[in-house]
Amino acid sequence: MKRPSKLVIAVDGPAAAGKGTLAKALAQALGLPYLDTGLLYRAVARRTLDAGADPREDATSFAKALEPRDLERKDLREAEIDQAASLVAKQPGVRAALLERQRHFGQVSGAVIDGRDIGTVVFPQADMKFFITASPEIRAQRRYLQRFGSLAVSHEGLQKEIDAIIKRDQQDASRDVAPLKPAQDAVEILTDQLSAEDVLQKALEIMRKRGFVE
Ligand code: DC
Repeated sequence: MKRPSKLVIAVDGPAAAGKGTLAKALAQALGLPYLDTGLLYRAVARRTLDAGADPREDATSFAKALEPRDLERKDLREAEIDQAASLVAKQPGVRAALLERQRHFGQVSGAVIDGRDIGTVVFPQADMKFFITASPEIRAQRRYLQRFGSLAVSHEGLQKEIDAIIKRDQQDASRDVAPLKPAQDAVEILTDQLSAEDVLQKALEIMRKRGFVE
């Protein structure tokens, strides 16, 4: 098969499974733009908290008001944002307000897009869909390392991270609109025992077999 001129690759999965790392690497390897859709929900959560509003309440107006510079803020990866983003992401109005932006991004010249519902809702016709997973323990360790640079900081801290990840997975997977779940035609990759390079090579191999990569 010839590579489509606007190749769209959906990379979904739970928090800290390695989907962002894979999506960025694929985008670079294939010369495609990259969109991290989690950042959109994080930026809505940031606006909500900055306004002193409760992320459980309707945040649609904050989603509609989102501007490119909201995505460039340096404070979108804090623990309070993890939780608030998952709460605003449950809201149908917020998801609807962000849908067209995501579609437009992919339609212009193709893209690698990571999130939770890219292969199921945003681009159900994506050329290639990956679902990236890892156990909660491994994902918590990765998050912890990113935040503190070492796993030796505290056992309780790591346990808290595991609990937070499990809670967020449950929230993301049990919501009514666009829940976290693999698309039927997604290729699942479990990354527990794999390096970032292993995951990239595996994904490229699958794409090669399907004729998307030489
Ligand atoms: O991938 P992340 O951790 O940056 O995502 C932040 C939150 O946004 C997470 O709770 C799930 C939610 N999200 C979503 O519901 N749909 C997406 N396409 C991307 C993220």
